[in-house]
Amino acid sequence: MTDQPAAATDPAAATDAAAATSADSTATSADPADWRDGVVYQIYPRSFADHDGDGTGDLAGILDHVDHVGPDVLPIDAIWLSPIYPSPGRDLGYDVTDHTAIDPLLGTEDDFDRLVAACHERGINVILDLVMNHTSDESAWFLASKASRDGPFADFYLWRDPSGWDADGKPLPPNNWVSFFGGPGWEWVPERGQFYYHTFLVGQPELNWRNPAVEAAQWDMVRGWLKRGVDGFRLDVFNAFLKDADLRDNPVIEGGSPWSRQDHRYDLDQPDFLELIGRFREIVDEEAGRMSVGELFTGGTPTAAAYTRGRHIVFDWSLMESPWTAAAFAAGIDLRERAYGPDLWPTIALSNHDRERQATRLSASVGRDRDPDRAAIAKAAAVVILASRGAPFLYYGEEIGMIDVDIPREEIVDPPALLAGPDFPWYDRSRCRTPMQWQPGPGAGFTTAKPWLRLADDADTRNVAVQLADPDSVLAAYRRLLRYRRTAPALRHGAMTRLPSGDPDVLAWTRTADGQRLLVVVSFVGQPRQLDLGTLAGGRWRAIVGSHREPAAVAPDGTIALRPDEAIILEAADG
Ligand code: NOJ
Repeated sequence: MTDQPAAATDPAAATDAAAATSADSTATSADPADWRDGVVYQIYPRSFADHDGDGTGDLAGILDHVDHVGPDVLPIDAIWLSPIYPSPGRDLGYDVTDHTAIDPLLGTEDDFDRLVAACHERGINVILDLVMNHTSDESAWFLASKASRDGPFADFYLWRDPSGWDADGKPLPPNNWVSFFGGPGWEWVPERGQFYYHTFLVGQPELNWRNPAVEAAQWDMVRGWLKRGVDGFRLDVFNAFLKDADLRDNPVIEGGSPWSRQDHRYDLDQPDFLELIGRFREIVDEEAGRMSVGELFTGGTPTAAAYTRGRHIVFDWSLMESPWTAAAFAAGIDLRERAYGPDLWPTIALSNHDRERQATRLSASVGRDRDPDRAAIAKAAAVVILASRGAPFLYYGEEIGMIDVDIPREEIVDPPALLAGPDFPWYDRSRCRTPMQWQPGPGAGFTTAKPWLRLADDADTRNVAVQLADPDSVLAAYRRLLRYRRTAPALRHGAMTRLPSGDPDVLAWTRTADGQRLLVVVSFVGQPRQLDLGTLAGGRWRAIVGSHREPAAVAPDGTIALRPDEAIILEAADG
């Protein structure tokens, strides 16, 4: 689906040879209003906390737990709320009927304003998920558009005449475009005598961004949220907004699914797309210090870098798709550093609401998906995400090592999963969207009712309350690292230079900024490893913080004995 880093055939040679030539990067963000280098915590509102006792998470539930993401527990810089707008829920909020309002399922307008105020009191920014590529087919815009070829909304969607008629008198679609979720991309509407296009579900008709009235309506909506105090936006599938003006057929290529058997030359990544993002940023920059992050849809790291501009950053999937080996992470890091260069600011995410959770995926990728290995890998991965160059995006539950849950077919709440087969890249995303595990006992502190989606079987033992009391927990590791990151300019915005570690299973890199130089070492194996830090990075080093409660100490001769799955951040001892 993306241009993933190629697996190295000789891991030791590939890891170290590339490190030796890795470019020094110097991107920083000196402006204090620029919080691109902060940590973002993604909340999936239906699954975070249920305040009103209906079994579904809500905004008041987030408010109840706002201190979990505050300075004393998880010192992050922003929360990103997955869609909170009214929606029939066919794609669980990514099918919006009114982009200016709050979904009553999640609470009231007042709940939202109270949540924003509570976040701001704690120094937490609030990022909203903007779904501007499509709407729900129940939105007022679409209903008006469908009803008539005249009027202000007639041209709000991608309507086209049939390309012809088959022998049975059935209309033929305007071109060969297909839906990412499976099936044809065009839906026939007899009332209008035309087809409309949808990249996703039939219930998610595509907006026509080449109509200036659509763009104007979207900017009005964005301004409304800015005025309400929102600090930033995540743009859903932003590189799909614009389509080829002539809706030409996509070239057909080799591939495993109907979607991947097309080169998406005409339905994604159009040449004038960056100008559109420039116009979006002008609106966002009407208010100081606002950020935005684009969700790159089916594109690789070079494309993510090409769409990154100042305070507009872009999701890059290279590390989210890497198995847990030093060679794969080295390839991913080097690909990122090359593509972004010193002046662009990358993002880094290991989990989100569409993919397997990091604790499941990384440990499974090396056949170690049982505790204690799984938790040990999750803690080492926390060092990678919080000590690499770029804005880290954490996914709720990642901080306690939550894992994916097997959902029986009759309980799947991800309709696209039921359309597509198990080889679909996002097959059953219900697995990674189960309720947050707050405490032992029925409902896990998430709800007093039957949860909208089943809880994980391990909720009694893997939860926030238990892990807060355990200094060796995954949560304790995230807290230590986040606290330290706040004090360390080199981690927040420093340049990153990968170094040859001399061991094919260990990665090493430095981060430098504002006179601070840090060394990061990460072991990708469940056996001990010995490193000579003097040879590796020169000078003398002191271990500060890492995956384990007390990091391994540097011996007087400059060597360090890493324990299995240990990852450590070290400061220059003489600097
Ligand atoms: C990307 C979102 O991350 C995903 O959850 C959603 O289904 C599609 N966009 C369609 O909005």
